[in-house]
Amino acid sequence: MSKSTNTAVNAVVTAVYSGTFDPLTLGHEDAIRRAAQMFDQVIIAVAVAHHKKTLFSLDERVALAQAALADCPNVKVLPFDGLIVEFVRAQNAQVIVRGLRSVTDYDYETQMSGMNRHLAPEVDTVFLHTSAHVQHISSTLVREIAKLGGDVSGLVSAPVLNALQGKVATKH
Ligand code: COA
Repeated sequence: MSKSTNTAVNAVVTAVYSGTFDPLTLGHEDAIRRAAQMFDQVIIAVAVAHHKKTLFSLDERVALAQAALADCPNVKVLPFDGLIVEFVRAQNAQVIVRGLRSVTDYDYETQMSGMNRHLAPEVDTVFLHTSAHVQHISSTLVREIAKLGGDVSGLVSAPVLNALQGKVATKH
């Protein structure tokens, strides 16, 4: 049975999960894979990220997310720039999904969801508590450990691990 058959109007429900994904980690994947069970379609919106100097280019971050999530038929990966609510509207999506790891995430996310709701009252934000076994993961720590020669194999999927090893090797 399709997930959408439970909704009153039998409409397709599309959720957007946004982030810089520099790189996508198993923490992100945990939230994305769970969202893919809940919604008809999940769009991973990879931010251009003017606010951060990224290790991976936008094209690389999109390609890595596509490779890591290739086994999820209802997950699509797209680049995005500008306001997230405008991207959600352009994709005919209804929901923003965010992962919550800690109280620190909660404070920041509450403000973001409130502001996004102000900008687009028709779009709701759904929070997923990150699973305990991946709660300690962040992209910054993954990049740092990889650069210092540490083992990140339990923190990212195989395509991301290969790409990280390639990046680190070319920096030396
Ligand atoms: N598992 C692992 N790590 C997670 C995680 C999870 N479930 N959820 C978040 N993180 C990490 C991210 O990897 C990132 O780590 P890093 O700083 O080490 O790279 C950090 O937590 C922050 O994540 P996030 O909140 O997704 O920030 P971001 O910088 O990756 O992306 C945007 C933020 C781009 C999605 C957001 O600013 C946005 O939508 N901007 C668009 C402009 C806009 O609309 N602004 C108005 C908003 S009200």
